[in-house]
Amino acid sequence: MKVMIVGSGAREHAIAEALCGAPDEDVELYAFLRNRNPGLIRLSEDYEVGDPTDVDAVARAAVRWGVDLAVIGPEDPLAEGVADRLEEEGIPTFGPKRGPARIEWDKGFARRLMREHGIEAYPEFGVFEDPDEACEFIDELGKPVAVKPAGLTGGKGVKVVGEHLRNLDEAKEYVREIFEREIGGLPRVVIEERCVGEEYTIQVYTDGRKVLPTPAVQDHPHAYEGDEGPITGGMGSYSCPDGLLPFLSREEYEESVRILERTVEAIRKETGEPYRGVLYGQFMLTADGPVVIEFNCRYGDPEAMNILPIAEGDLVTLHASIAEGSMEGDVEFLERATVCKYVVPEGYPESSEGEGEPIEVDEECIHRLNAIPYYASVNLEEDGTITMTSSRAVAIVGIGERLEEAEEAAERAIRECVSGERIRHRSDIGKPETVRKRVRRMERIRGQGGS
Ligand code: GLY
Repeated sequence: MKVMIVGSGAREHAIAEALCGAPDEDVELYAFLRNRNPGLIRLSEDYEVGDPTDVDAVARAAVRWGVDLAVIGPEDPLAEGVADRLEEEGIPTFGPKRGPARIEWDKGFARRLMREHGIEAYPEFGVFEDPDEACEFIDELGKPVAVKPAGLTGGKGVKVVGEHLRNLDEAKEYVREIFEREIGGLPRVVIEERCVGEEYTIQVYTDGRKVLPTPAVQDHPHAYEGDEGPITGGMGSYSCPDGLLPFLSREEYEESVRILERTVEAIRKETGEPYRGVLYGQFMLTADGPVVIEFNCRYGDPEAMNILPIAEGDLVTLHASIAEGSMEGDVEFLERATVCKYVVPEGYPESSEGEGEPIEVDEECIHRLNAIPYYASVNLEEDGTITMTSSRAVAIVGIGERLEEAEEAAERAIRECVSGERIRHRSDIGKPETVRKRVRRMERIRGQGGS
């Protein structure tokens, strides 16, 4: 089967490895890339470097290659309607059309959908197209809030009082800035009561009716050790052999999956179109139970790297049948722990320190240590060297029977097999002490009780 992957991060490298290594179908891979990702280039019969949000360029490449299936990695081409455009060309696409993808590209739509369909896992909120009304709502609430531009901001637009904003006055200033600078590109802002708890991710495969859940994952968005510093695209993540997390019970996991199932149904009813792809739920476990922080319309990054290496079975059939509209394929997840750590250029995400500098990745050494490398925003140069951009460079995923083993594998692989003068990573991700701190924090929150 000829498969086109769109996107060129570690997430897309992981998707491509999973599809090319699946036993159910021989895959001939083609890639539409933003950067010259060496992992994807190596796997592909042919590739094109371009802008994945240019849906006509993506469609032209797909037609030229004669692909049978397109798999879309990032959200921005989906928000631009790449799945709709590919459908016009008769190409089945894994990734929702623009209508259902609205669950990510319009946070106001997502919250109203939950309220209108009785999916009661949201904080008190308001959606505003007028900055004065948004500021009045902040005053009426009179408690710490999260201020969210409604549109896409690459995961960096949400600001929370007590974290990025000192008080409600700063929250109101940020509201005005969102409208003045058109942050997120939509004339809307969502104001929510701040939630307190532990965040986690659950991703489900869906054809718009049936749902296949995957193991829970916890991401680490802060740039520096100890959850300090600015929010990034995600510095790393872990998952556990039982598919749960040390602070998340089986009942809470199942409740979260039910929320996603009901959301899939609500999207179909609301937009009149089935959601085809991965629906990503970012949850917070609060004293009152799971609350949705936001939805994404694609695999998570780094969370894709936790679930794909332990997925076994008919992965090509799964992706292709979802794209065709009727999910099939026998896929299971091994009872293994995974720890993903991103190696990033020194200045990420605040400066370009390290951009253009070389990074060396000894893949054999990494595999010997029971870990897997997935290339991200790097470029394969003419002379075979790999240079960094200003974004994340390579994800290293350790796999083991236990979380400690997976963490040690990822950490050793980075220390012994990845080199560069201007690189760094968060060594604390997946370490027992980091995980224990989260469990203790959750216990304290539960002890304080809900509202
Ligand atoms: N892990 C955050 C994201 O995928 O958006």
